[in-house]
Amino acid sequence: MTRKILVTSALPYANGSIHLGHMVEHIQTDIWVRFQKLRGHECYYCCADDTHGTPVMLAAQKQGVKPEDMIARVREEHLADFSGFLIGYDNYYSTHSPENQTHSERIYRALKANGKIESRVIEQLYDPEKNMFLPDRFVKGECPKCHAADQYGDNCEVCGTTYSPTELIKPYSAVSGAVPVLKESEHFFFKLGECADFLKEWTAGTNPHDGKPHLQPEALNKMKEWLHPDENGEGGLSDWDISRDAPYFGFEIPDAPGKYFYVWLDAPVGYMASFQNLCDRIGIDFNEFFQAGSDTEMYHFIGKDILYFHALFWPAMLHFSGHRAPSGVFAHGFLTVDGQKMSKSRGTFITAKSYLDQKLNPEWMRYYIAAKLNSKIEDIDLNLNDFISRVNSDLVGKYVNIAARAAGFIAKRFEGRLQDVSGSALLSKLAAESEHIAESYENREYARALRDIMALADLVNEYVDANKPWELAKQEGQEVRLHEVCGELINAFAMLTAYLAPVLPKVAENAAAFLNIPALTWANTRETLGAHTINKYEHLMQRVEQKQVDNLIEANKQSIQAAAEPAAEASRYAPVAGQASFDDFMKIDMRVAKVLNCEAVEGSTKLLKFDLDFGFEKRIIFSGIAASYPNPAELNGRMVIAVANFAPRKMAKFGVSEGMILSAAAQDGKLRLLDVHEGAQPGDKVG
Ligand code: 2FM
Ligand code: ZN
Repeated sequence: MTRKILVTSALPYANGSIHLGHMVEHIQTDIWVRFQKLRGHECYYCCADDTHGTPVMLAAQKQGVKPEDMIARVREEHLADFSGFLIGYDNYYSTHSPENQTHSERIYRALKANGKIESRVIEQLYDPEKNMFLPDRFVKGECPKCHAADQYGDNCEVCGTTYSPTELIKPYSAVSGAVPVLKESEHFFFKLGECADFLKEWTAGTNPHDGKPHLQPEALNKMKEWLHPDENGEGGLSDWDISRDAPYFGFEIPDAPGKYFYVWLDAPVGYMASFQNLCDRIGIDFNEFFQAGSDTEMYHFIGKDILYFHALFWPAMLHFSGHRAPSGVFAHGFLTVDGQKMSKSRGTFITAKSYLDQKLNPEWMRYYIAAKLNSKIEDIDLNLNDFISRVNSDLVGKYVNIAARAAGFIAKRFEGRLQDVSGSALLSKLAAESEHIAESYENREYARALRDIMALADLVNEYVDANKPWELAKQEGQEVRLHEVCGELINAFAMLTAYLAPVLPKVAENAAAFLNIPALTWANTRETLGAHTINKYEHLMQRVEQKQVDNLIEANKQSIQAAAEPAAEASRYAPVAGQASFDDFMKIDMRVAKVLNCEAVEGSTKLLKFDLDFGFEKRIIFSGIAASYPNPAELNGRMVIAVANFAPRKMAKFGVSEGMILSAAAQDGKLRLLDVHEGAQPGDKVG
């Protein structure tokens, strides 16, 4: 029976580059999807960029571009990286799409009609300078426990304590540096507490398609902790805050001006939206997949850190808005490199782009990662030496060489003709493993699948060594035997390629061209090719050289300052303004001025008041740099540079400002005054 399956990988954020950590997940998913397709099932793989939220909004601001433009550019970069690694999505979309807005609103309205949304006024830290509420990660300060400086608002990276941002000592906004204030605001909550019965049932439930649990055993244990309060009443489900106040890059909530859906609400709906977009393009019945009681299958591949969202919020959102829930959520662990957390300073925070730019073969990495993956939520390690030896010995030494060793004889001695070798005992052994290996792929036991496939490759190589085609070729009267042995080897190679096709799609495509067949499918794991003529053999894969891996690490080290995070890198500089002529420049009269007195302005968190000596006259200038200079008196007596020929400006209720003091806007959000060398006098012209 043909299964109908929708599969997703987690949606990458639109403000960062794709690295090998992402690749683990997308390779894991892609292998599974390709396997299902090779088996003849109707399987769709949908993904998208996760484009909303405060970090994306601020990153775009920093770059001086519209968020819409930034996310469009980043999506192109992400797609190029994923295509480079041969990830074969049926659709790679964006959460900033009309389909996503429609479905998010629809789901929200259905939840509301179902009594699952309520509004409450909450107090939250607010940046009085940027006029925005601050997510926990955007408040910094001293840890209340160990007193480490500059810790995030949710937990201390030094001592590991978790706390609320209001507990930080000397808190400041990571956006502007201002001291945050508590402010009230109305928020919307999804009443998750009321979904507990459904969630207890769903999390412990099984997939009607195959009777397997919806969640992996480790995930189910976590869920139990989250779903059941302990004897002290700790734990259990709390309602989920799904709204954020303007300014926010996202979708405005219906009938709630200035309130936006929290990014984590519309992100999983992005799976639906990406699929909707695909359905509309190629004519699939969307409702058949998403209606309650659907007998299609839906699986989400995710990292272990976002289990909460996928195993609780998302099934509850779907169910209580009248949809089907997922058939399974498959979480994987994190990627370490040489046994350690990926690190930018060690060069092991490897971006997908750097790997491709260094011309390393993506199928090497696909193979290595697959060889490490199983169905558990375990971290997996990329050991760089093991990477080189495993790829070289398995893929080049054991597998590709089989074709290389037989193809020459078939071409030179038999004009490319294969005869029928369906009676071969060797090939029967290979074919016999078809269902067993299929089961490993199906259960995401890729390491086991590849071990079994390589054991078959060993059998074939033993057969080569026992039959020595190079000797048969020299012996009189061994023509028929040589033809037979080489035919068996080419067929064995075809079968192994079919087994490896989910992992090595490009090799499989090139092998099909060599074998002169349209494409390999799973049926080729158990059938011989029959008598026909094959094409000239072109080498299918090179060995990995140590130097290439060294260069990769080096490239990622160099990129600490430069390219490790291209999106962030681009964001470090505001775009250069349009050209100005010399005359334009000369219109601005800049002078050295001496600070006679500098003080805070009562009633303003932003402004400092400067009494300045311009040499030719004294003036007052208000400057919006209070957050960067908490002790204004320290500035008394120093020289600054100021524009002297600005029209005077009235500063709200504070007075008139007679010019502008120059400062540099730094990446950390601080403003720093410009200085002049000793000897400069008030009134000196700058230019
Ligand atoms: O953790 C992340 O990278 C999120 N952008 C994943 C979103 S997955 C889904 F829910 F959209
Ligand atoms: Zn601490």
